[in-house]
Amino acid sequence: MQQDEIWDNDAAKSYDTPGTGMFSPDVLEPAVERLAQLAEGGAALEFAIGTGRVAVPLSERKVPVAGIEFSPAMVAELRTKVDEATIPVVIGDMATVTVPGSYSLVYLVYNTISNLLTQAQQVACFRNAARHLSPGGRFVVELGVPELRKLSPGSRRSSGSRRRAISASIPTTRCASNWSPIMSGSARAGRRKSSAHHIATSGRRSST
Ligand SMILES: C[S@@+](CC[C@H](N)C(=O)[O-])C[C@H]1O[C@@H](n2cnc3c(N)ncnc32)[C@H](O)[C@@H]1O
Repeated sequence: MQQDEIWDNDAAKSYDTPGTGMFSPDVLEPAVERLAQLAEGGAALEFAIGTGRVAVPLSERKVPVAGIEFSPAMVAELRTKVDEATIPVVIGDMATVTVPGSYSLVYLVYNTISNLLTQAQQVACFRNAARHLSPGGRFVVELGVPELRKLSPGSRRSSGSRRRAISASIPTTRCASNWSPIMSGSARAGRRKSSAHHIATSGRRSST
């Protein structure tokens, strides 16, 4: 399944879980605080800005924020919160698309680098971050690397409003997530989706 099929209108509409999960103040406030410190008074650029979970509160901290985002549907959700003048966003691939300006901080959070499915794409993404950074600037990547040997095929985890079944391949360092919406504690019949992730592990070359 391609990224544009995953991050469609349904995903965008159900993404935000205000006050809970990844939107809980316990998760967001320290992250936003740290990113504001790392921006050191300069501007920030979020790769894969999504619906503005992090960018909106960071902008409220008076850090100028811009974004790159692949999914128009996710940006439409962001636009229900802030306008283009407040957080400008360019639609496109964070590995290749450029935005105007120079930034003291580029950040890519919530494991989203793993949405780039090859090592070459991930390297291009780092190059693109460097392209946007002012001298001395920082590129912050948040990535939870799963303990692949503890993930058996079909092992299950719940995540926010979605139930995920994850399988992993150690030789290719690829994970596949198959997920379905949860309503009232049980998996809702209806649309199920699957997506692939490339887990960047140091020193391991991808065969993809
Ligand atoms: C898990 S969400 C993270 C959104 C936001 N950064 C956050 O922390 O809530 C992943 C986002 O990455 C976007 N995305 C996936 N691949 C992308 C790419 N190659 N370039 C830009 N955005 C991408 C998706 O459209 C989606 O909005």
